[in-house]
Amino acid sequence: MKTEIGKQVDKAVALLCAGELVSIPTETVYGLAANALNPNAVFTIFKVKDRPSFDPLIVHIPKVDAIDLYAHSVPRMAYDLAMTFWPGPLTLILPRKSNIPDLVSSGLDTVGLRQPSHPLTLELLNQLDFPLAAPSANPFGYISPTTALHVFDQLQGKLPYILDGGPCRVGVESTIVGFEGDEVFIYRLGGLTLEELRKVAPHCYLKLNTSSNPVAPGMLKSHYAPQHPFYLGHIGKLIEQFSGKRIGVLSLQKNYSDIKGVKVNEILSKDGNLDEAAVKLFSAMRVLDASSVDVIIGEFVPDVGIGRAINDRLNRAAS
Ligand code: TXA
Ligand code: MG
Repeated sequence: MKTEIGKQVDKAVALLCAGELVSIPTETVYGLAANALNPNAVFTIFKVKDRPSFDPLIVHIPKVDAIDLYAHSVPRMAYDLAMTFWPGPLTLILPRKSNIPDLVSSGLDTVGLRQPSHPLTLELLNQLDFPLAAPSANPFGYISPTTALHVFDQLQGKLPYILDGGPCRVGVESTIVGFEGDEVFIYRLGGLTLEELRKVAPHCYLKLNTSSNPVAPGMLKSHYAPQHPFYLGHIGKLIEQFSGKRIGVLSLQKNYSDIKGVKVNEILSKDGNLDEAAVKLFSAMRVLDASSVDVIIGEFVPDVGIGRAINDRLNRAAS
């Protein structure tokens, strides 16, 4: 007898084998997955997300050993990082083998590989004989989904199945790194912190991408963006600046809901815990965006650990 979860994974396997899309849970955010080796299936991802074809996709693999199936000339450090941090929120940019379609990598000669950490998706990947290309399961440029309901709200009717694995445990996307000589560069801040990476790769530095940096064409400055105008700064001052307006507040710890003008206040972590704040960030932004406010205001969090990734997302979301 199959368990309910077993049946759900079977359904995802069947659809993916037929070239269809399935939304998959990961520890970071929900992905919109298809067979990475099937260009038609991959094309559907771009269509459903309304994503420009110059923005490459991450390829999800079941284990460290699968790196060599899709990448060549892999530096020793890449294996070391994978063995330490996989399954987990780390994507490695490596020279691409030709079995990965051009469309997946937007024509770049590299491919982004990651073994995600979620029991359902690992089970799924282990049952498939192909890897899964999967961007975050949101319309291009909008806030990434951290629950199955977020995916449903935005993509219902556009894909046949969402594999519900509960709320994401990390809450921000994977950290993306590339290799240049002996150095490791972080192209996108994410769930794995600079501090943790440096324990294995002491020569690890930030080289964050913007639309003008061709290494990762997708890291556009304006991203993760709510529909409402969103401003960052000192919350007290911003409340004064927008007096007379209906204000939504995104704060780390402090409660502003009693202040005149504040209609909604989402607090990321009452204890100021940055891991908790990361988990809550995207849902909080969605709650604020769905409220009847004129403007959303927020504040940066301490720029350490996963706080760096939170601040990066806040910056890209701001008007
Ligand atoms: O946590 C995550 O990484 C999630 C989950 C679903 O795994 N995925 C995700 O995918 O955030 P997406 O498509 O929203 O962001 C992936 C980014 C792209 O914007 C692109 O900049 C970068 O990864 N990327 C992918 N392949 C690349 C490559 N070959 N070279 C440089 N950057 C690449
Ligand atoms: Mg995304």
